[in-house]
Amino acid sequence: MNDYAIAVQHKSLQLVIAVSVTAMRRARWILALLQLTAGLRAPVSTKAPRTLQHATLDSTVLSCGASRPKTALSNTEISEFVDTSDEWISQRTGIRSRRVLQPGESIADHAASAAQKALDRSGLDPAEVGLVIVATSTPEDLFGDAANVADQCGCKNAVAFDVTAACSGFLFALVTASQFLETGTYQSALVVGADAMSRWVDWGDRNTCILFGDGAGAVAIKKGGAGLLGFSMGSNGAGREKLALPYNGNRLPLIGGKSATVVGPRAMLMEGRSVYVFAATTVPRVLREALEDAHLTTDDVDWFLLHQANERILEAVAERIGVPKDKFIINMDENGNTSAASIPLALDFAVKSGKVKKGDVLACAGFGAGLSWGAAVFRWEGELLSE
Ligand code: ACO
Repeated sequence: MNDYAIAVQHKSLQLVIAVSVTAMRRARWILALLQLTAGLRAPVSTKAPRTLQHATLDSTVLSCGASRPKTALSNTEISEFVDTSDEWISQRTGIRSRRVLQPGESIADHAASAAQKALDRSGLDPAEVGLVIVATSTPEDLFGDAANVADQCGCKNAVAFDVTAACSGFLFALVTASQFLETGTYQSALVVGADAMSRWVDWGDRNTCILFGDGAGAVAIKKGGAGLLGFSMGSNGAGREKLALPYNGNRLPLIGGKSATVVGPRAMLMEGRSVYVFAATTVPRVLREALEDAHLTTDDVDWFLLHQANERILEAVAERIGVPKDKFIINMDENGNTSAASIPLALDFAVKSGKVKKGDVLACAGFGAGLSWGAAVFRWEGELLSE
């Protein structure tokens, strides 16, 4: 068995640890957490001072909708083509299955279908919707999917645009749309989260391909009512390499020594453990900030609805904020991580299953690439769905 020595230096203090390979593997998590606690090597700093001054917005969530590809891909099926197992994936992540777009299937169509359901359940007149925002990092059309969604939903008077903020995208879009309602520019909006992660992961990389799935979720919001009670958002580009899907261009010679770079194969880069630690430490803080802005405590919250990345992240957050896990909505088992779609998909699941009832207070939080993070607190004013 090989032995290793690790030297950790902080100012004048130096600590040398010698461990066997096996022990070192077991200790990696502990070491990362110790380093974080001691401030020796925070994976990314998310301690930027807040500039937020007023976080209650005149915007109420009326309804939701969801749309997922029909094709499910189980952990066992994945283990047929990469070196993994249902046991490893479900124990480490809580994910058992995910939906995957098939050739010819459009993520923009799923976004439109989710938005249409939210619109139908809201009672809003499509022609009166002023704004449609689609949060996505993986659109059908790189120029944006929102105008397509608005068109398919008959929102002919709406301005429509996309927002890219990975797994925080839906919350960033919800807050952005709510600002337009707060200022009175528009009276109602559709906010959609949609991602087609299966198109962008490396299906030979067991570190990432097991995590993600495809889908779309949406909410309809209107000015007035209970309000978006509080929110907080942040980002830190210094951590961008922890989770990224960078452009990779192939050189294409043009003329006179000049070239262009045209799109080449791309795949996600992820330092899983750093992202885990970032999420487990940042989400409790951003949730507390949003609740403070709403003048609420965790006791006032009926449901915590977090980005569905990994069940262990949710457990770590629950422990840190001192809330039982059964107050957390969890549905990543059948969806995987659907990035910007995950919060509205989980909301739709929670409403349909009868967990979330009219008047309930929800505290939502998203986190992911950027790095980025955000939380929003609102009262669910929708009716129970009958489907
Ligand atoms: N199957 C079997 N073994 C695996 C797999 C797999 N799918 N993946 C990794 N392993 C192995 C590793 O090779 C390693 O083996 P070794 O000890 O022989 O080197 C061992 O399992 C442990 O690997 P770790 O990476 O330490 O596993 P960890 O417990 O950290 O779990 C995971 C990995 C699930 C990725 C976790 O770190 C995580 O969830 N991180 C957060 C990631 C995340 O949420 N990303 C998305 C953010 S959202 C967005 O913006 C897109």
